[in-house]
Amino acid sequence: MPSPRPSAADLLAWYDRHRRILPWRAGPTEPRDPYRVWLSEVMLQQTTVAAVGPRYARFLARFPTVGALAAADWAAVAEEWAGLGYYARARNLHACAKAVAAAGGFPCSSAGLAALPGIGPYTAAAVAAIAFDAPVVAVDGNVERVVARLHAIEDPLPAAKPRLTALAAGFMEDPAARARPGDFLQALFDLGATICTPRNPACALCPWQAGCAAHGAGIAPTLPRKAPKRARPLRHGAHFLLRDAAGRVLLRRRPAEGLLGGMLEVPGTPWRDMPWDTPDALLHAPAAAPWRRLPGLARHGFTHFELEMVLFTATLPAAGAPPAGEWLDAPAARQGVPSVMRRLLDLAQA
Ligand code: ADE
Repeated sequence: MPSPRPSAADLLAWYDRHRRILPWRAGPTEPRDPYRVWLSEVMLQQTTVAAVGPRYARFLARFPTVGALAAADWAAVAEEWAGLGYYARARNLHACAKAVAAAGGFPCSSAGLAALPGIGPYTAAAVAAIAFDAPVVAVDGNVERVVARLHAIEDPLPAAKPRLTALAAGFMEDPAARARPGDFLQALFDLGATICTPRNPACALCPWQAGCAAHGAGIAPTLPRKAPKRARPLRHGAHFLLRDAAGRVLLRRRPAEGLLGGMLEVPGTPWRDMPWDTPDALLHAPAAAPWRRLPGLARHGFTHFELEMVLFTATLPAAGAPPAGEWLDAPAARQGVPSVMRRLLDLAQA
């Protein structure tokens, strides 16, 4: 007997009973605010639901509307995003808020949203579906996994992505999904996060078990397959923690473009394949001072490389002009820098 086609009505009935309560999720009868939906979707890219929760609430308290975010200084947005990583997201968020505020509100179609700065196909579809009930499916890692298993797709990611995206779009042929696209999408997210999990999926509890080809074939936990990852190269940097007599530390703002663009940093050398020896590193020091190299290394993993940093510390000599930059006390510095820079403050116990 062929297995029954997974029905949107079954998934929605499951969602109505088991939906997660999440800070950005409107209740069944609450209005949906596109600003909140958009903000949460941007934060949730590359960051876990658990990590986003408190940061989302804090961000919203500081910038309660898209107009407030558009009117804010970049330094305030950067400070509020510090530690969340992928800082191009914050720059795009700020640019997008300005465009939306100038236009008088968010467009409600996926195509209109995708035309805004920094909004890619995933975010456009997620906001269109969740905030405006547009009949589209946004494909994140959860949705890829659910679809790969339902259809027993054994081609590895990322090559399988277009096929999985096309299959996901097919969900909207079901009238029950078209009647509630925002809930349907969030139901897919919740199914992927709580039942159809990467390891040890709870197939016995799944509303779509009977129609799941991978479950039928006994291969659900092995999907989706992934092409082997290349090893990340190791790069090296040397950084300089300069303190003034009041114990404040010198930070600088990175150029707006590129990795960690527009964020504060502990001044340092470029990051390169070869370790830095002390004389070469000191050519990049922000000031002439009695620099002392601390024992140990600070490490940080970026998406495309691992970084090992050595750290030099010094106190600003009384004579001479102070170097350009921003002087922050240690708590403000910890709060305002990206995680990679916080590892340097940790090494210095600052
Ligand atoms: N992951 C990405 N977007 C999400 C959302 N809106 N709800 C739950 N998990 C998500």
